[in-house]
Amino acid sequence: MRVLFVCLGNICRSPSAEAVMRGLVESRGVDGIEIDSAGTGDWHIGHPADPRAIAAANERGVEIGGLARQVRSSDFEDFDLILAMDQSNHATLLAMDGADASKVRLFREMAGEGEIDVPDPYFGGEDGFDLVLDILERGCAVVLEEISS
Ligand code: 4NP
Repeated sequence: MRVLFVCLGNICRSPSAEAVMRGLVESRGVDGIEIDSAGTGDWHIGHPADPRAIAAANERGVEIGGLARQVRSSDFEDFDLILAMDQSNHATLLAMDGADASKVRLFREMAGEGEIDVPDPYFGGEDGFDLVLDILERGCAVVLEEISS
C-alpha cells in the first residue's frame, strides 16, 4: 500500500502528515506501507520543510525530512491512496491529466471528520502548526487503522 499526502506547497502540512504517518507505522510495526508527500504548487520544489513545521514536530518526537516536490500524473499510477489536505488540493488533483479519482480522498473525510480542511498554517502563527499536528495525529491513526485492517 503506497500512500501520498498532498497539500499546496509540500513544506508544511503534507510533509508533516508523511512524518506523523511514518512514525505511527514504525511504532505500531505495520508492514507494507510506503509513504510520500507532494504539493500541487511549484514554488517550493527542492526546498526542505518550513522550519516552523520542523520545530513543532520535533517537540513531539516527529522527524520531518525530505525536499518538496510537485505532484505529477505518474503519482496516480505509483500510489494506491492519495490524501488531499484540503478541498482545494482535492479539486486540483482531480483536474490533473491522468487523474484517477478512485484513489483520491480528502484526508479529514477519510478520518471520519466530514468534508473539512486541514487548515493551512503557512501565513499564520506558530500555534497553527500545533493545531495541524493535532489534526494529523488523530486523523492518521484512523486512516492507518482503515488501510491496515
Ligand atoms: P502547505 O503550506 O501547503 O501546507 O505546504 C503552504 C506553503 C507555502 C505556500 C502556501 C501554503 N505558499 O503560498 O508559498
